[in-house]
Amino acid sequence: MILYFSGTGNSRFIAEGIAQKAKDKLLSLTLLMKSSQDGVLLESDKPFVFVLPIYAWRVPRPVDEFIKKCTFKGSNEVYVIVDCGGTPGNALKYIKNSCKNIGLKLKGFDAINMPANYIMLYPTTVASNPNVQKALKIQKDKVESIADDIIQGKEFFRRPASFKGKLQSAIGNFFFYKTLISTKKFHVNDKCIKCTTCVARCPLNNITFIDGAPQWSNNCMHCTSCINGCPVEAIEYGDKTEMRNRYYLKQSYDDIV
Ligand SMILES: Cc1cc2nc3c(=O)[nH]c(=O)nc-3n(C[C@H](O)[C@H](O)[C@H](O)COP(=O)(O)O)c2cc1C
Ligand code: SF4
Ligand code: SF4
Repeated sequence: MILYFSGTGNSRFIAEGIAQKAKDKLLSLTLLMKSSQDGVLLESDKPFVFVLPIYAWRVPRPVDEFIKKCTFKGSNEVYVIVDCGGTPGNALKYIKNSCKNIGLKLKGFDAINMPANYIMLYPTTVASNPNVQKALKIQKDKVESIADDIIQGKEFFRRPASFKGKLQSAIGNFFFYKTLISTKKFHVNDKCIKCTTCVARCPLNNITFIDGAPQWSNNCMHCTSCINGCPVEAIEYGDKTEMRNRYYLKQSYDDIV
């Protein structure tokens, strides 16, 4: 069973590739999290495979917490594949702890570099940009090779953390949750067509429609799904995002050739 969480499509893309090659079931944790806060029963005879984005050099905290609430039946093995814009830091250390917590044996870990999506922090590129398309095509080779390793039941632990990575995952991650995550700067402009896509996509159900416009509560993980995924780019975060391109990967794994 291939389980993925994805804010802007990168992890979904990788998970699709692995599921296709491994002929295994594909399940969206993003949707599961939306529909249940209490965890769910997950059953698979083959090893579980998680595909997750990196947020502040670890897997996103709400996703980690949701996984810990789930019950796993069948296989007691798990692979964790993360994707990131630059480096996963020392995410593996924390993933190992979480796997112990849920009673699964971690058999493999790897990280795939994908286009960075944190538009609130830095400029991002549109997914249709030829350089992005080229990069995605190149990363498909890595996806296929990881899928082969999983099919063969290999053990692999790649992308060891540097000293800097260890600090980033420990201290950087702490400050990310303490100081960076806020919804105060989200606002919507008059381009909004009231399609409610942002409401439907938010994995934490943090957006509601009040008086015909989206409003943000405080339960946010900065996944960027709302701001990057709005079809008319009506959502801004402060004033810095006004000049920035939106990154949202809609293409399926087979669309990139
Ligand atoms: C809140 C947030 C924090 C991020 N932190 C990191 C990071 O620490 N290291 C990194 O290389 N990329 C980081 N990124 C980039 C994402 O990991 C990367 O773009 C990922 O592929 C997004 O996956 P998705 O499209 O499935 O959501 C961050 C993105 C967001 C939104
Ligand atoms: S996704 Fe964009 S256009 Fe649609 S309701 Fe939300 S802000 Fe408005
Ligand atoms: S409000 Fe937007 S950024 Fe925050 S969790 Fe929901 S979709 Fe993600």
